[in-house]
Amino acid sequence: MKMQRHLPPTAAPLAFRDLVTGALGLVCAGSFQRTLESEIKTFFDVKHVFLLTSGKAALTTILRGLKADSSRRQVIIPAYTCFSVPSAVLKAGLEVVLCDVDPHTLDLNLQRLRETVGPDTLAIVVPHLLGQPADIPAIRGIAEPVGALIIEDAAQAMGCKSEGRWLGTQGDIGFFSVGRGKNLSAGSGGVIVTNSARLAESVRREYASLASEPIMAIIGNLLKVVVATFLIHPKLYWIPAGIPFLGLGETKFYSDFPVCRMDGIRVGLLSSWRGRLVESNRCRVQTRRSFLDRLSRAAERFLVHPSEAVLNLRLPVLMPTAQQKEALCAAAKINGLGISGLYPAPISKISDIAAMFGSRRYPGAEALSARLVTLPLHRFVTETDVDRICAVVGQYLEESGETPAQDCRSHEDVLHRKVSPSAR
Ligand SMILES: Cc1ncc(COP(=O)(O)O)c(C=O)c1O
Repeated sequence: MKMQRHLPPTAAPLAFRDLVTGALGLVCAGSFQRTLESEIKTFFDVKHVFLLTSGKAALTTILRGLKADSSRRQVIIPAYTCFSVPSAVLKAGLEVVLCDVDPHTLDLNLQRLRETVGPDTLAIVVPHLLGQPADIPAIRGIAEPVGALIIEDAAQAMGCKSEGRWLGTQGDIGFFSVGRGKNLSAGSGGVIVTNSARLAESVRREYASLASEPIMAIIGNLLKVVVATFLIHPKLYWIPAGIPFLGLGETKFYSDFPVCRMDGIRVGLLSSWRGRLVESNRCRVQTRRSFLDRLSRAAERFLVHPSEAVLNLRLPVLMPTAQQKEALCAAAKINGLGISGLYPAPISKISDIAAMFGSRRYPGAEALSARLVTLPLHRFVTETDVDRICAVVGQYLEESGETPAQDCRSHEDVLHRKVSPSAR
């Protein structure tokens, strides 16, 4: 454990007043909830909103609703995504079917998708991983002819747009996560959005049967949020980052998660959500631009689809080899730079469920799990941090004969420079 400035990979901190409104949510749950639902409807221009305890609870509820109205049983998901996605499909009692991904866009591989859809496809879970927009019109062209629905997984893309429209609102139904490490956080939480009256009715039936979480779990979430609000700061993040049993950033597969309605405390924690989301996005746009300026020579080759218009949660970089990724992540960890991989394995290699997929290979998903790293973009990342990160990334890419960081100083120079007092 080294006492030093240590950037978390993501951060969406809450202010003291959010904690106060969170506590008030215990007594004003109903009115807070109606206000939040109506604000989300207006902001995202959607007709129907449902609030739940997590993104995976949201996906499970959507799928249970769809399942009740259809005899189809297969759900196509990306072969590289959050482990919660297959666990939600299984919890809803449906079959997981994998589709490989394109490592250069993080989207589904459209050719593979055409080969995978069929008469038993109930829905396709379309990723907007790290805020990279999936090609919804192209996917619609594949889904519609076979009667499959599009569920947008906008867990990592709340507040991101493509072609002027919010991600999460372009498919048949979508969901956001307001969990740890997302654009906006209430500790944990999920939001379903749709404009379809028919799908909203299916979800409403399921939602009506959901209980609230037990009070101890609700208070536990609040306590975690309070602690995280302090420890997420780069001056203190070295403390949780140095405690192995906290398992920060670890991805685990489990299906015993609660599927409940969002409680008043979580809703209260989100009472200033619009301002927080807008501010979080503004910082990420600015920091992303700083990275793109400095990494310009490498941009075409190593950044994942580096369009100016994309608003990433974290900036994705596809390293040339798995060894370079490992070496970069290890160096970044020692120096507290907030660089990390995303998911450690393709869904087909999760030991609890690997048998479902036989020996099929998913080369795009394998490339991402072996070589994808993400650079932090949140509000605590300063220009000095960007310099330090570029220097380290540049060093590991230079080892492959490529030079990404033309205007970055040497690694040692920058890494050991004192962090400026203006650090946010
Ligand atoms: C792409 C993706 N989908 C779904 C989820 C599930 O969201 P939650 O953690 O709120 O259950 C996550 C969360 O990390 C995610 O990143």
